[in-house]
Amino acid sequence: MKDRRLVVMISGFGSNLQAILDACAAGRLPARVVLVVSNRKEAYGLVRAQRAGVPTLYFPLKPYRERGLDRAVYDRDLAERILPYRPDLIVLAGWMHILSPAFLERFPGRVINLHPALPGMFPGMNAIQRAFEAYQRGEIAYSGCMVHIVTPAVDEGPVLAQAIVPILLEDTLATLEARMHEAEHRVIIEGIRRALEMCE
Ligand code: GRF
Repeated sequence: MKDRRLVVMISGFGSNLQAILDACAAGRLPARVVLVVSNRKEAYGLVRAQRAGVPTLYFPLKPYRERGLDRAVYDRDLAERILPYRPDLIVLAGWMHILSPAFLERFPGRVINLHPALPGMFPGMNAIQRAFEAYQRGEIAYSGCMVHIVTPAVDEGPVLAQAIVPILLEDTLATLEARMHEAEHRVIIEGIRRALEMCE
């Protein structure tokens, strides 16, 4: 089967992007990354993409906000910039903007997102910290991460892959974050593989 075309969208360090690049290079995913998109110029993930010879697109929201343009205009223009790369799948790996239907409708069922919490647990920002604090309050015994198909509702949508991440008594937020990211680097690959199987 020919390699499927992935567009990966990031906002930061890009360790999950790196896991995807490594899996493609090692033949563990029947895919290749054809474009990396970031809304932040200083995202280290852009350096990772350049090192791997993958085209990058820096597409900030700020100019749209400064012109008083609606988020849907940004999302529509962003989709227009991505379409020429003919993605089979768009992977949100730390992308920090909520994508509106203006974007999602252009790639129906083909946008997936990695979130550092289990289904229905801590949607939105700072999920790892909120889980850590809930553990300290004795409300949960573990957390986890998941890859799901993106729907207009934030961090919901059909789950493609997930993993439990234990929280230990001696954990600090930093040690929990490190354990979470290790799990994410496995779950993101499993989620992409499932998504590609579904759109065969
Ligand atoms: C990950 O924890 C992801 O779940 C969250 O943002 C983080 C991205 O990390 N949405 P990285 O940029 O892939 O290292």
